[in-house]
Amino acid sequence: MSAEKTNQSWGGRFSEPVDAFVARFTASVDFDKRLYRHDIMGSIAHATMLEQAGVLSIAERDAIIDGLTQIQAEIEAGQFDWRVDLEDVHMNIEARLTDRIGITGKKLHTGRSRNDQVATDIRLWLRDEIDAILAEITRLQQGLLAQAEQHAEVIMPGFTHLQTAQPVSFGHHLLAWFEMLSRDHERLVDCRKRVNRMPLGSAALAGTTYPIQREITCRLLGFEAIGGNSLDGVSDRDFAIEFCAAASLAMMHLSRFSEELVLWTSAQFNFIELPDRFCTGSSIMPQKKNPDVPELVRGKSGRVFGALTGLLTLMKGQPLAYNKDNQEDKEPLFDAADTLRDSLRAFADMVPAIRPRVEVMREAARRGFSTATDLADYLVRKGLPFRDCHEIVGHAVKYGVQSGKDLAEMSLDELRQFSDQITDDVFAVLTLEGSVNARNHIGGTAPAQVRAAVARGKALLAAR
Ligand code: ARG
Repeated sequence: MSAEKTNQSWGGRFSEPVDAFVARFTASVDFDKRLYRHDIMGSIAHATMLEQAGVLSIAERDAIIDGLTQIQAEIEAGQFDWRVDLEDVHMNIEARLTDRIGITGKKLHTGRSRNDQVATDIRLWLRDEIDAILAEITRLQQGLLAQAEQHAEVIMPGFTHLQTAQPVSFGHHLLAWFEMLSRDHERLVDCRKRVNRMPLGSAALAGTTYPIQREITCRLLGFEAIGGNSLDGVSDRDFAIEFCAAASLAMMHLSRFSEELVLWTSAQFNFIELPDRFCTGSSIMPQKKNPDVPELVRGKSGRVFGALTGLLTLMKGQPLAYNKDNQEDKEPLFDAADTLRDSLRAFADMVPAIRPRVEVMREAARRGFSTATDLADYLVRKGLPFRDCHEIVGHAVKYGVQSGKDLAEMSLDELRQFSDQITDDVFAVLTLEGSVNARNHIGGTAPAQVRAAVARGKALLAAR
């Protein structure tokens, strides 16, 4: 049997080489090479610990660290020859280390297994991704706060059932997205704590006979805690699933936000302008300017929900401990993180550039009987029971539909047909400003409250 054809890392007990297709089928290097930096980081920490534990000499440790550092440079210079026959990122780097430094390279794997190695790498990688994603969420939230502050007084129709409901401040509307993103941020910060626990030292599944000192690797790698059970450490991917769940919620929020931007840029709404750099044209219809960025984000949400479902399914049938199924965790996880990060980036770039068409929004709010509730509340203040007021205003609206007039456009006499409790102080409540200013409590749409919410938002971001 030719030795070159059987993987040297585990070929000892094999009497025939792996089938060429099976080698490709079982290999993960095409996608897991992305973990190289974290793999090398983990290996350097492991070698450092092995020296302190008396397993490696200082010279051996230094040769390993030096070799790994040079391999990292080779990879980053695009000079590394990734070999599918070496299966994955771990064995590619280890084989190259042995090429470079000789027999000492073979000592690196003492007291560990690819099972704890890969679990460690993914956690280190995901921790960095979460940090980058958190930074993008904050950048997007800063953009929302700036817009909300600038447009606290801009009035648009608020909707329920996509029908005009009540006037709201455009700033207030934007702060709803801010609030959702704050929860997304919280969820990811919380998820990060459980990502940041160290499986290294679990070895294949049962731990190792070498006198490893896990406190050392834990400290060197910046983990918050050491995983307390070796079987669990090498097998569960709940941290990745949890990330995909948090990422799915964030994408769901961005998808809803996208849907509004798509509606608002349409000729039918015409509420906002998106700068050309976030749009594309049509190859056939010269007049078109399509809101591609929000449409794509809305579409991409499906990839992340798919990753969540995929990982749950991947995990649910696995007995303890490590199973090769887990190699399938990477592509969905990478894709979910990339998709969320890119979508946030696109939004963080785009949101500060949104320009509201103030007059169009205002006109839409004015035309839709959006102050009908204010008229009912006014009559309640005059002493009528709310249900009767609702009925009275219903008649007024019906008259408005027939006569083509909004409530604020009716004369006092016209309004008094519906109730003699109406006097000329009614017009103050029928204006859009009167309506929003009246909702002056925490979480309400009065511009003063919007400014207070912006101040709270700024304090929240400053404390991160
Ligand atoms: N490429 C593998 C993975 O991603 C690494 C661990 C493989 N361990 C093993 N014993 N086959 O999960």
